[in-house]
Amino acid sequence: MTTVKYSLEDFTHDMESLLESQPGNQQIFDKGSAWLERLVSNTDSIPVEFRLPLGTGPRPNHASRLLYQGKSGLQVTAVVWGAGEHLGPHDHRTWGMIGILDNGITETRYSRVDDHDVDGYAKLEKDRAATLKPGEITLLVPIEDEIHQMDNLGDRPAVEIHVYGADLRGLERSSFNLETGKITNFRTTKWDNC
Ligand SMILES: [Fe+2]
Repeated sequence: MTTVKYSLEDFTHDMESLLESQPGNQQIFDKGSAWLERLVSNTDSIPVEFRLPLGTGPRPNHASRLLYQGKSGLQVTAVVWGAGEHLGPHDHRTWGMIGILDNGITETRYSRVDDHDVDGYAKLEKDRAATLKPGEITLLVPIEDEIHQMDNLGDRPAVEIHVYGADLRGLERSSFNLETGKITNFRTTKWDNC
């Protein structure tokens, strides 16, 4: 039998206590990423039913399930990426922390390098890419460093825990076409906070 030393409930309790003090992003990242690292260091901290692809629908190899939604805005989801899945560059419009729970996911970060003076257009440049392993954390810093692309280049589903400072349902966000520079604004009705 596996003992869960640091549970999702422990994590959300710690995060809500921190958010009550209205911390800055740096404080959230300093403390929150250590807690998230602790949570995802044990795969069994999240029940197996939240770690499986949906198996049906238009994206049967994918899943995005809500684990927690607080009145503060704190949102925690479990996201499953099937083998070969790809999601192009997009932003988030709130602080975020992603912890890798199972298998690996390749994240490519982009910087926006245009002057923001043409409506609907953005020029992105690749900043860095890394394949993240279980137990690792990646941070989304609003405006400064929050545009990324996700690829599961492995042959098994990758599972992540996503933590955001706002409920992403209904929040206007943008996706970016690297070739044409076209910006597409979107809002999701579910917690599709990839
Ligand atoms: Fe994302």
